[in-house]
Amino acid sequence: MEKVLIATEKPFSSVAVEGIRRVTEAAGYELVLLEKYTDKAQLLAAVADVVALIVRSDKVDAEVLDAAPALKIVVRAGAGYDNIDLASATTHDIVVMNTPGQNANSVAELVFGLLVYGVRGFFAGGAGRELKGKKLGILAFGNVGRNVARIAKGFDMEVYAYDAFCPPSVIEGAGVNPVGSSEELFATCDIVSLHIPATDETRRSIGYGLVSRMPEGGVLVNTARKEVIDEEGLLRLMEERPDLTYLSDIRPDAADMFAEKCAGRYFATPKKMGAQTAEANVNAGIAAAEQVVAFLQEGCTRYRVN
Ligand code: 3PG
Repeated sequence: MEKVLIATEKPFSSVAVEGIRRVTEAAGYELVLLEKYTDKAQLLAAVADVVALIVRSDKVDAEVLDAAPALKIVVRAGAGYDNIDLASATTHDIVVMNTPGQNANSVAELVFGLLVYGVRGFFAGGAGRELKGKKLGILAFGNVGRNVARIAKGFDMEVYAYDAFCPPSVIEGAGVNPVGSSEELFATCDIVSLHIPATDETRRSIGYGLVSRMPEGGVLVNTARKEVIDEEGLLRLMEERPDLTYLSDIRPDAADMFAEKCAGRYFATPKKMGAQTAEANVNAGIAAAEQVVAFLQEGCTRYRVN
């Protein structure tokens, strides 16, 4: 029987794993599970005889692909696929897909969890601030950004967005104010929420220059990727501007420095938490399983990214 492997250093909820099992076993595959692995060697051994691989933020590089001679498809159960070496997958004749939108609401809800926690001074007892009436800037208007906009309206926020790849008319159509550049977004908004992928263009693109445009009391929320932040520049700015706050579900490389220099206005979850809900796990996991089966049995390449 051909094997489908779930390899997740940060496991799916058990209900999601059972859903994936149902889909793959009904289609005639054996499901193999590698969870909470601590060593790359475990992943290299696990991929040796599988035809399909379902991962989350797990790194799938050339070494992993070399170790998987039977592998035909990798599905990243989630949105960002910067953890997968696409060029190497293509060379190996392996299809790579993501599952766009499936965990977007989960990430968007956490943006507001972080925000309420942050603007209320981390619940330390002092008087905080409210979100109502504040200007929220959304950088990149994809699936997560659109969910953030929807929820922000419930908080009675003024919502703005900039997306280099999304026409202003689409942003307007969602009842959001389009702005012409990321510079304008940062200069306009009290709070900016990042939803850009990590690419050659975006890596280290959010730092001193952009964030320094924010008005007094500005809050930066990052549930996107660690790599998009210029940590050195942001730290320097936050030392100069004690009014700024940084909230994230991605622990920065310089976490200790942020904690030391920006106490009371910096918070990051120890693990990436945005998509870590049972609902998102089920949605993304089952979508991944269905995409694996549709590809292996019908050659369907919807959501292929390489
Ligand atoms: C994504 O790109 O889908 C999110 O960052 C979630 O990542 P995770 O599956 O590792 O939680």
